[in-house]
Amino acid sequence: MVKETSIFAPCQVPDAVDILRSGKLLAFATETVYGLGADARNGDAVAKIYAAKERPFFNPLIIHVSDLALAERFGVFSDVARQLAKAFWPGPLTLVVPLRSDAGLSSLATAGLNTVAIRVPAHAGALALLTEFGGPVAAPSANPSGRISPTRVMHVLAGLGGKIDGILEGGDCVVGLESTIVFAAGEIALLRAGGLTVEDIEAVLQVPIASTEDPDTPQSPGQLSSHYAPNAVMRIDASKRQGQEIFIGFGEVAGADLSMSETGSLIEAAANLFAVLHKADAIADGRSIAVSSVPMEGLGLAINDRLKRAATDRA
Ligand code: TXA
Ligand code: MG
Repeated sequence: MVKETSIFAPCQVPDAVDILRSGKLLAFATETVYGLGADARNGDAVAKIYAAKERPFFNPLIIHVSDLALAERFGVFSDVARQLAKAFWPGPLTLVVPLRSDAGLSSLATAGLNTVAIRVPAHAGALALLTEFGGPVAAPSANPSGRISPTRVMHVLAGLGGKIDGILEGGDCVVGLESTIVFAAGEIALLRAGGLTVEDIEAVLQVPIASTEDPDTPQSPGQLSSHYAPNAVMRIDASKRQGQEIFIGFGEVAGADLSMSETGSLIEAAANLFAVLHKADAIADGRSIAVSSVPMEGLGLAINDRLKRAATDRA
């Protein structure tokens, strides 16, 4: 069924809240990527997210709230979890904590798990929306499942226009990578590298953080190997263009068609990554994409994670 997708200016938060209250789908900007939101207590509304994205039901959603006090109504926060929340919220950090028995969230949003992923985004529009709504908003990234994440309104429209009810405009996402996901329902572990660096988290914890490379660490159900994928075939760690490839550079590289950051800034590269992939895909016209190597430090960890998944062969 094709829907009319309304676009709301940042001053139209009350109209956007009405969409959520009536159990419909609203895409909204966060500092990381655009999210596709629905009332997390309303199973029918949450089911529409999975349908619009064609997302597998076993992959749980992140619950977005306006502050830590509201987060504590849905999850159980240990001292360390609270310490991380206080240090980094609002911001690009998602905490996986035990689900409260009286949380009242749709079990579809949590995929039936006994833990819940929660975050408070640092984007004025998202915070205004969440504060006015006053409840939990389940929101995955606003892209068809497995495709490149959206960092601009036009990316959301291109992927999900006609399948969702509204978009609350909020400009281009400044971080550009999804939130870092940290398991905090037991021993602290990194589940997904993202817009908050491991170095920043370790500076607060004062101990090294375990990662999913470790086989004993719990996994995020959504960390499928092929993800963030352009239509075009993609090659990573390329030093130069081969044949007709579209070459995406990082830092000073000769002959790049597009660049994540000409100055070699990881912050700029993170903010540009998905927009550059969307653009390369749009102009590919049957050609494949090659991407320069990016150093494995700071935000480079998350950038390399997304590039690797975007380049993975899919069935
Ligand atoms: O920056 C972000 O995190 C964006 C914006 C919209 O907030 N959202 C986002 O959502 O990236 P999504 O659905 O694309 O990724 C959510 C990830 C998935 O990998 C999912 O498996 C994981 O969070 N997740 C959710 N609940 C979990 C849980 N209880 N335990 C482990 N992983 C969980
Ligand atoms: Mg996603």
